[in-house]
Amino acid sequence: MWDWNTLFIEGQDISAENAATLDVISPANGKIVGRVGAASAQDVDRAVVAARCAFESGPWPAMSGAQRGALLLKLAELVEREAQALGDMDAHSIGRPAIETQMLDLPNAIATFRYYAGWADKLEGRVVPTAGYFGRQTHSFVTREPVGVIGMIVPWNTPLMILAWKLAPALAVGCTCVIKPAEQTPFSALRLAQLVREAGFPDGVVNVVPGLGGIAGSALSEHPDVDKISFTGSPETGAVIMRAATGNFKRVALELGGKSPQILCEDADLDAAVQGCAMGLFFNQGQVCAAGTRILVHRSLVARFTEAFAAAAGAVTVGDPTSGQVQMGSLAGKGQFERVDRYVQGGLAAGARMVTGGAFAQDQGYFYRPTVFDSVTDDMAIVSEEIFGPVGCIIPFDSDEEAIARANGTKYGLAATLWTKDVSRALGLAKQVRAGAVSVNGWATIDPALPWGGFKTSGIGRELGISGIEACTEEKVTTLVL
Ligand code: NAI
Ligand code: MG
Repeated sequence: MWDWNTLFIEGQDISAENAATLDVISPANGKIVGRVGAASAQDVDRAVVAARCAFESGPWPAMSGAQRGALLLKLAELVEREAQALGDMDAHSIGRPAIETQMLDLPNAIATFRYYAGWADKLEGRVVPTAGYFGRQTHSFVTREPVGVIGMIVPWNTPLMILAWKLAPALAVGCTCVIKPAEQTPFSALRLAQLVREAGFPDGVVNVVPGLGGIAGSALSEHPDVDKISFTGSPETGAVIMRAATGNFKRVALELGGKSPQILCEDADLDAAVQGCAMGLFFNQGQVCAAGTRILVHRSLVARFTEAFAAAAGAVTVGDPTSGQVQMGSLAGKGQFERVDRYVQGGLAAGARMVTGGAFAQDQGYFYRPTVFDSVTDDMAIVSEEIFGPVGCIIPFDSDEEAIARANGTKYGLAATLWTKDVSRALGLAKQVRAGAVSVNGWATIDPALPWGGFKTSGIGRELGISGIEACTEEKVTTLVL
C-alpha cells in the first residue's frame, strides 16, 4: 500500500489543507491501493505560486539548455531505475495487468524524457529578411521562449506516459508546471516528482496537486497565473477547461479521445489484421484514446475476419491481474463499467448483434469480456461515440470510397489504421482519412518523435515531436532598426 497522504509543492512532500486525503481503491478487488493528499483550491494556489517563482527567479530561468538536457537525462535514468514500481502503481490503481505498463507506458515515458533531453539545447531561432523601416534597413530575428507555468491535467488510462508527453518538452524549454493527476492514479506522478527532486531540478519547477477534478483540476484551469493548460481526457471536461481558460486567455492543448477506424482492404494480410485489431481494441481493457473501435472490413473478408476475430476475442483471459495470469484486468471503476455496459445494452436494444463478449460478473471487480458487435448501423451510439472499453463493431464495406466516407463519418479524428499490401492504395487512403495519425499495417504506431493529437472533436494541438517544443513556447520577434 502506498500510504503517502501528501501533495508535492516546492520540492516538499506536504499535507493538503486540513490534512485532506484521497483513497485509491483497486477496481479489480476492492482493496485499498493507497492514499494521497487531496488538494484544495488554496493548495493549488500555493503550487502555482511556487511554479511562478521558479519560472521568474531562482536557478531555473538562468540555466542553459545543455544543463536542462542533462537534468532530463538524469531523470530518464531514475525513471528507468524505478520502472517496475512506477508501472505497478499505475497498474494496481486501475486494475490492469502490470505487464502492460512495462510493455508500453514505462519504455515510452523513458524514451520521451530522453528524446526531449536532446531538444533542450537546440532551440534555435531564425533571421527574417524584411522590406525595412521607413527607408532604413532592419535586422529581424525570431526566437522561442518558454510559455511559462503550465498546468497539466492527466487521465488515468496510461498516466505516467501521458504525463511524460506533457512534462518532458515543458522542462526541455524551461517552463515550470503544476500537475493534477487523475483521482484514480496519483501515485506515479507524486513518485515522479520525487525523482525530479533527486535528479537535481530546482524546487518549484515541478509541483503535483492530486485531488478531485471539480476542485483541484478546476482551480488549476481557472488560475490567473497559469499560462497554459495541457489536458488529456473527455470532451466534456475539455469543454469546461476551455471555458475556464478564457479568464486570462490561457493557451489550451486538448487530447480528447476518438472513435478510430481500422480499415481492412480486400488485399489485407488477414492474420496480421486480426492480431492488430485485437491489440487495438483490447489493450488496456480498451481504455485507450486511440482504440480501433470501428473495424471496417471489405465485404469479401467479413465472414473469415469475423470468425477469426471472435475466436481471438474469446481466447482472452479476464480476471483480477493481481491474483494470476490474465491478459485483461478490470475496467477502471464502477462508473467506467456502467458506462461500457450502458453502451452495450443500448447497442443490443438498437438491434446490433453481439458476436461475442458481455459483462463478466465476479464477486468483486468490474470485468468486461472482449466484446464484438456486427449488424450495426452508423447512427447507433456504439458506432459513433467513444465507449472507452473493450467493445468494437465490425462494419462491412464494398469500395474504398465507402470505407473512407464511413471512416470519416464521426465527430472524432484521432487515429486510423489501414490494412493493405498495396503501397499506392495505402498512401491514397491515408491522405483522405481525417485523423491526426494514420498507421499502415500496425495499430497506433506512436513514438516520441512523432506529433500526436487529433482533428475535429479529438482535440486541439499536438504533443510529442518538434510540435511538443512549439506547444511549450511563444515566438518572439526582435527587430533592430539600423
Ligand atoms: P475526465 O476527462 O473527467 O478526467 C480526466 C482528468 O480531468 C482527471 O485528472 C480529472 O480529475 C480531471 N477533471 C475532471 N473534471 C475536471 C474539471 N471540471 N476541471 C478540471 N479538471 C477536471 O475523464 P473521466 O471522467 O475520468 O472519464 C470519462 C470518459 O472520458 C472516459 O470514459 C473516456 O471516454 C474519456 N477519457 C478519455 C481519455 C483519453 O485518453 N483521451 C482518458 C480518460 C478518459
Ligand atoms: Mg469526468
